[in-house]
Amino acid sequence: MNSTKNNRHQTGSRDEMVELVNNVNRVDDIKLNRRAFLKATAGASIALGLATLPFSVHAAFGDFEDEENRLEIIPLADLPKGSSVTFNYPTDNDPALLVHTMAGELKAYNSACTHLMCPVFYEKEEEVLLCPCHKGYFDLNSGHPTAGPPQRELPKIETEVVNGIVYAVDRQVRHG
Ligand code: FES
Repeated sequence: MNSTKNNRHQTGSRDEMVELVNNVNRVDDIKLNRRAFLKATAGASIALGLATLPFSVHAAFGDFEDEENRLEIIPLADLPKGSSVTFNYPTDNDPALLVHTMAGELKAYNSACTHLMCPVFYEKEEEVLLCPCHKGYFDLNSGHPTAGPPQRELPKIETEVVNGIVYAVDRQVRHG
């Protein structure tokens, strides 16, 4: 009788011990899984951060292409109102014209006439752009053709003045 009780007791203890070990193992598993999850998450975060680094740098320092497209034209002090200067933009094969209007604005366009590519000039008296080849006229403020054979606008060049220097920074070709 006593021996049966003892056996039961021992059996119970063994079961409890097995259960305890299982519980300990389960707790270890959870800890390990949590650790693995945290490691994986940290790894993924770092990988994601590295993958997006070029975009972050790009956002922080601006558009690199704009820097490549930036061209110094002339100090504004050397271009009084009612005068113009020629330059090339965006390549050496693209003649362009910068005008400082009588109203004090800066207007710049590629200067190859959209009719047959003759150079366009600034006409100070009438404040227009004139192509002498076939008397083509363009609006100084928009580059749109206003008279004569040209049918298309002159490509417009965006300018910017930084520390007194006029730069060409971008170009809009407004027709196909
Ligand atoms: S080339 Fe300019 S009007 Fe003909």
